[in-house]
Amino acid sequence: MKEVRDLTVEEAAEELARLAAEIAGHDKRYHGEDAPTVSDGEYDALRLRNTAIEGQFPNLIREDSPSISVGSTVQSKFEKITHVVPMLSLDNAFNDEDVVDFVGRVKRFLRWPENDALAFTAEPKIDGLSLALRYEQGMLVSAATRGDGTVGENVTANAKTISDIPHLLKGADVPAVVEVRGEVYLGKTDFLALNERMEAEGKPLYVNPRNTAAGSLRQLDSAITASRPLKFFAYAWGDVSELPSGSQFAMVEQFEAWGFSINPLMGRFESTADLIEQYRLIEEQRSALDYDIDGVVYKVDDLALQSRLGFVSRSPRWAIAHKFPAELATTVLEKIEIVTGRTGALSPVARLTPVTVGGVVVSNVTLHNEDYISGSGSKGEPIREGRDLREGDTVTIYRAGDVIPKILDVDISKRDEYSQPFRFPEVCESCGNPAVREVNGKTGKTDSVRRCTGGFICSAQAVEGLKHFVSRNAFDIDGFGEKQAVAFYEWGLVKNPADIFTLEERNAEPGNLQRLENRDGFGKTSTTKLFQAIQDRRSIDLHRFIFALGIRHVGEGNAKLFARHYQTMEAFLLAMDGSKEFAGEAWEELINIDGIGETAARAAVAFFAAPQRREVVDALLEKVTTVPVKQADTNSPVAGKVVVFTGSLEKMTRDEAKAMAERLGAKVAGSVSSKTDLLVAGPSAGSKLKKAEALGVETTDEDGWFELVEPL
Ligand code: IVH
Repeated sequence: MKEVRDLTVEEAAEELARLAAEIAGHDKRYHGEDAPTVSDGEYDALRLRNTAIEGQFPNLIREDSPSISVGSTVQSKFEKITHVVPMLSLDNAFNDEDVVDFVGRVKRFLRWPENDALAFTAEPKIDGLSLALRYEQGMLVSAATRGDGTVGENVTANAKTISDIPHLLKGADVPAVVEVRGEVYLGKTDFLALNERMEAEGKPLYVNPRNTAAGSLRQLDSAITASRPLKFFAYAWGDVSELPSGSQFAMVEQFEAWGFSINPLMGRFESTADLIEQYRLIEEQRSALDYDIDGVVYKVDDLALQSRLGFVSRSPRWAIAHKFPAELATTVLEKIEIVTGRTGALSPVARLTPVTVGGVVVSNVTLHNEDYISGSGSKGEPIREGRDLREGDTVTIYRAGDVIPKILDVDISKRDEYSQPFRFPEVCESCGNPAVREVNGKTGKTDSVRRCTGGFICSAQAVEGLKHFVSRNAFDIDGFGEKQAVAFYEWGLVKNPADIFTLEERNAEPGNLQRLENRDGFGKTSTTKLFQAIQDRRSIDLHRFIFALGIRHVGEGNAKLFARHYQTMEAFLLAMDGSKEFAGEAWEELINIDGIGETAARAAVAFFAAPQRREVVDALLEKVTTVPVKQADTNSPVAGKVVVFTGSLEKMTRDEAKAMAERLGAKVAGSVSSKTDLLVAGPSAGSKLKKAEALGVETTDEDGWFELVEPL
């Protein structure tokens, strides 16, 4: 089997199609017929391969992708709901001619005179996932995903966390039963913000808003769904006791009156030319919309005609999706620039002649790393097998599903005959120190990233490190953001984090002729405020302190794990010093911390072992007190017990519950086993509760938990 990075676009598309069919077949045999024909391991390998190809070719992700569509092992954790009216898909039109054909087909079927007007609605095709919401007497009783169209999953608890979905329909004219259907999606801005958080926490990034929305809706823990700002547009219906109106357009307006969000770009048109004009109009606005759309859906407006038209196989005869072509643009790669980041990584960026792709001006594209540029890499979208990128090249760029611009291809025919392959610098352009590709101690593989060895001497690393130190989830000093970090560094006032805490003292020195309050952008008030904000951070939670140091592979999550485990900075430093040989008792303890991988452990030990860095940490600790994690309470009724939380908790978040239990000396586990002492189950608890009951494990609800741990 070819490595994913060696696949051409065509091969990848073919393989994704094959994997989708194959995995769907296994799902059916496993879940539907309880008769699997492959081992779990073989099945997992197929899914992994699918995910890897999708990661590499995000624009090839299929509508029926196993990572999105229903029927996989993950989704089987939900109860099933059989749709009273099946949820169908739409036929596609790829150009104007296909649309003309569609309208012609509809008219012929209805024996409608060819030149008589026939009304259609046109509305954006939202790139999310469809959801069916059942209301009885105006009350939301269930929410089901599309699934295979016949049977979906019950995601009611999760759907209820979406603010666009009313729990109660407004108005007096609500049918006894009505199933409103529409699309759940995640906005582009919210998607980017979520990925920024993931990046800050050192977690893997999401591929695109649609996958993220699908993943968010299928969380077993509704609190996670609630933390994602999912949205919903209503555009269709299923089972209805009585139809409130006779046209598609009026139905959707009725949804709005009941309290749903409907798409503002929906319109009603009487000719094919008007439909296509609306398509162009929506296409023009596409990139400015805060949600992804991938086409325009046309539907016959009259519901009586819709029912006469009926269905062909899996799609209605009365509707079609007019798809947008992929957004491509051609431009010149003017220059390849290398930027040194906080951890010393040399990141290449392509500076392009600015070009508009779907309404957005693109002038920079990340080039990932050295191997990607030379055409031998595996990261990112491969620019056709073995093809390298050179300054001056003509390139085609596109915006992938994840809105991030990427290079699709190089036009070799336009390449200057004297052009030279790009030579990736072997020294840091910021400090002149050698930049090297490290060999991973564990795997023996050469890192794809070249790193500056300058450490603190390197101004680029120092400035990026300062920015990180004061960032929101680290020291978060009011009035000290990225801009100030750069300015203070350039003025020579703050060269490293410890300098922040001597700034006020130095500023007040009698001989100082350049007081902060007299500098550009600073007045007396803002200087006083800044010094106060710095004072306020002289005491800081241990995990924030560890995160702020900017240790490679130690994001917020790992910083919290370290803080919880070692509880004080002194204990943490002792552990780091005792692990220098990557062997012995301290090291064993370190890599045995649940959730800490060896890479992060090594990076942390190496960080504190570097004398220059250690000096700064020690200087910082003279000025700043770290607030230790509260000692676990060994007298509590749950001390030493294994506790599992499940279902949707209403009085505390899952993280709070976990932290509370740990503070009380309990061990929190993720799944129920014979070792579990107590299961705390919220309202929507499912399989874990059943298992606990079967095993005879003590169970309680949230109130019971509070009574146990806070008896007063
Ligand atoms: S109408 C019977 N309208 O597209 C047809 N679908 O390819 C009912 N979709 O599963 C669907 N936006 O998830 C309709 N404005 C829209 C839509 C839309 C997105 C999705 C939906 C459906 C898929 C069909």
